[in-house]
Amino acid sequence: MRIGLPLHAALAAVALSALLGPGASAQQVLKIGLIEPMTGPFASTGKQVDAAVKLYLAEHGDVVAGRKIEVLLRDDTGVAPETTKRFAQELVTNDHAEILAGFGLTPLAFAAAPVASEAKTPMIVMSAGTLIIPQRSPYILRTSFTLPQQTAPMALWAAKHDIKKVYTLVTDYGPGLDAETTFKTVFTANGGAVDSARVPLNNPDYAPFIQRAKDAKPDAVFIFVPSGEGSAVMKQFAERGLAAAGIKLIGTGDVTDDDILDSMGDPALGTITSHFYSAAHPSPENKAFVAAFEKANGGMRPNFMAVGGYDGMALIYEALKKTGGSTEGDTFVAAAKGLSWTSPRGPMTIDPATRDVIQDVYLRKVERVNGHLYNVEFDRVAAVHPDGK
Ligand code: PHB
Repeated sequence: MRIGLPLHAALAAVALSALLGPGASAQQVLKIGLIEPMTGPFASTGKQVDAAVKLYLAEHGDVVAGRKIEVLLRDDTGVAPETTKRFAQELVTNDHAEILAGFGLTPLAFAAAPVASEAKTPMIVMSAGTLIIPQRSPYILRTSFTLPQQTAPMALWAAKHDIKKVYTLVTDYGPGLDAETTFKTVFTANGGAVDSARVPLNNPDYAPFIQRAKDAKPDAVFIFVPSGEGSAVMKQFAERGLAAAGIKLIGTGDVTDDDILDSMGDPALGTITSHFYSAAHPSPENKAFVAAFEKANGGMRPNFMAVGGYDGMALIYEALKKTGGSTEGDTFVAAAKGLSWTSPRGPMTIDPATRDVIQDVYLRKVERVNGHLYNVEFDRVAAVHPDGK
């Protein structure tokens, strides 16, 4: 009980909130517990999501459906699932957060899912990409992407563009395994052949893997590595002379992440990837988003993690408008199902069947535009479902 509040007033407040249920009282603060790696090897994801959430609040105001939004940011420091779970528990129990959000990597989303289930707290996955994440709790909704969804268009494009033999190299955990399986399934069904290897998630050394990929003499190497790792891959690809040996680099857009793409330099030019977001996406919504994001963040270019965070807030705001400010788990999830809006990425819908995102996926090529490297979109597969179909 708060010091200084007369006992009868405190009891009245408790009784009122019990009567109205969670989130129903006007002007009541609504706390969102945002958990992301803000330090450590995946800090770029946290930095991007945090900046995007702040931008959304600055643009849309911090009051929605009579609720004043307050974001409580927690740094889970990298791949530390027990830390993520502890923060989720403390946020719900001690801080009375009514929504959990963020989740920079798949193991961190898995770790928080039981907390969301137990407390019936909506949990918005803004970053992680393994397909089965929403199956871990009925209160999970996702605004990022899935790896099958991002990979299938790349595999199909490769099969149709004279690439016959591919070496897949993925990070050895959930999203990498989804990418590998999807690539193999789609590419071999379309006549291609695949060799595969997996790189550890922690402290990866790409050199021996890229060398093995080169020795296998494929037409292309398909890469999935989590956001932030692309530069290290690109460096090895260049140093070991794969391009000179006639081996193409293809992948999901995680490897040519907008956050670090411009610093990769010439070796990245010509890389073809499939993905849901490019900072060069030529829509008015995206141009406004990129300009505002860069202005608010000292010129930092938004990447796909930023868009997952921005749209996570859009989902929260739109669902709250429908529930009249209630965050009661089942009510909130029901309101979120089927929501559809125009994101900086293009059109997106929350699939009522899976609580996951249905979105367009683009084929892109790294090109220099006005002196800077960008993923320039040249083709689009409309409304791809989470399973890549
Ligand atoms: C994940 O852990 O799910 C993840 C992280 C970074 C990515 C993609 C997927 O770029």
